[in-house]
Amino acid sequence: MSYESLIERVLLSETEISELCGRLGAQISEDYRDKKLLLVGILKGSVMFMADLMKNITCDCQIDFMTASSYCGTKTTGAVKIKKDLDLDPKGFDILIVEDILESGTTLSSIKELLAGRGASSVKICTLLDKPDCRKTAIEADYIGKQIPKEFVVGYGLDYDEKYRNLPFIGVLKPECYSR
Ligand code: IMP
Ligand code: MG
Repeated sequence: MSYESLIERVLLSETEISELCGRLGAQISEDYRDKKLLLVGILKGSVMFMADLMKNITCDCQIDFMTASSYCGTKTTGAVKIKKDLDLDPKGFDILIVEDILESGTTLSSIKELLAGRGASSVKICTLLDKPDCRKTAIEADYIGKQIPKEFVVGYGLDYDEKYRNLPFIGVLKPECYSR
């Protein structure tokens, strides 16, 4: 199936994503030079972003992953479940949560609270995309790739019902694809 039949509009091209990862990686490298950085990717959506971002980080760092979920189709359910926990003990680490998109804030505020409660030295957030108009919880990211309007997007790790994560760019799905 061709991209043209799925995507209404491209929001971030491969080139734009690569520039954005370079910019964020440089800033993070500077800010965490003397810290004990642990990148915590939130699966599955952050998988491509994590891979590209870490290539642009030049200070010492370790990585780990968590799976948390509050989503079903295109509507958030509000309840956050930890389906896969960290392998490492976060105690003493300066944690940077790496997320695909910050929407209502429900997922990230629960995860942030959980990690801070386990003795992390600091917990900050790096999100590829931010939908500020959708917030239900008072939470902001410390590093933001791009702010986008209130639209459902797919690609570059982001899914609709587990599909379209493999697209190398981010776009708005055509309405007729929601029922597929
Ligand atoms: P929040 O808890 O409402 O902030 O939701 C965050 C999670 O919802 C993200 O990690 C995504 O998995 C998912 N999500 C939010 N908006 C979108 C979207 O536009 N496309 C795909 N997934 C989304
Ligand atoms: Mg996600």
